[in-house]
Amino acid sequence: MCSPEHFAVEYAINPWMDVTTPVDRDLAVKQWDRLRETLVGLGHEVHLLTPEQGLPDMVYAANGAFMVDGTAYGARFKHEQRAAEAAAHHAFYESQGWRFIAPSETNEGEGDFAYVPETHGGLILAGHGFRTEIPAHAEAQEALGRPVVSLRLVDPRFYHLDVALAAIDDSNVVYFPGAFSAASQRVLTQLFPDAVIADDEDALAFGLNLVSDGANVVLNSEAARLAGKLKAAGYTPVPVELAELKKGGGSVKCCIAELRH
Ligand code: ARG
Repeated sequence: MCSPEHFAVEYAINPWMDVTTPVDRDLAVKQWDRLRETLVGLGHEVHLLTPEQGLPDMVYAANGAFMVDGTAYGARFKHEQRAAEAAAHHAFYESQGWRFIAPSETNEGEGDFAYVPETHGGLILAGHGFRTEIPAHAEAQEALGRPVVSLRLVDPRFYHLDVALAAIDDSNVVYFPGAFSAASQRVLTQLFPDAVIADDEDALAFGLNLVSDGANVVLNSEAARLAGKLKAAGYTPVPVELAELKKGGGSVKCCIAELRH
């Protein structure tokens, strides 16, 4: 995770960002801190990346790499405004002794890659259409040695996979079908017949931008309806308020890069 100490909305690279909306940075830091404490309280170990001035989106740490089996496949940002973040993530993985594979193709890390460890022995789901480019899906498969299934995103409000779909345990996902092309919706139905299905209200509340340890699902508090559906499916929803960071177009999952051994 990376503190939003330098968070701002200075440019607009997704439909949620409006440079005329004021941002309360202290509140952003407070809300982010509650998220960090929530994860620690659930027994997770949290490493911190040092925020850098001039990189206002660095709080969205999920975009810096995608890690599976102890190997990190690095990011290469689509937008020049975020390009320099990649080096900070690269340095982090190397300093911690993780294997790091530098990308040649445009991809935004966990923003567009999800991992479902028990589906077909370990399946990577990958989004394209707005940020990550299709050649990066093949590059990730070669880097990580796990099959990658490409899914096409079609609604600009859901510009990253992680605002439209999330793994909720080792073999199941929750997603909003409307964010995907008709063919990709069929692929998801085939792979995950028991998926929890979210509606547009859940998705617009950033409910799908969640992290789950298989039992506890940490999600944006505005997504109360989705929390109810997850509860009915046997999970324990853990709501966290992250309204300030929504102004940059992200929520819970965007703030967290998962280190998968
Ligand atoms: N402002 C950031 C961008 O548009 C938000 C990134 C959100 N991160 C995510 N994993 N969806 O790039």
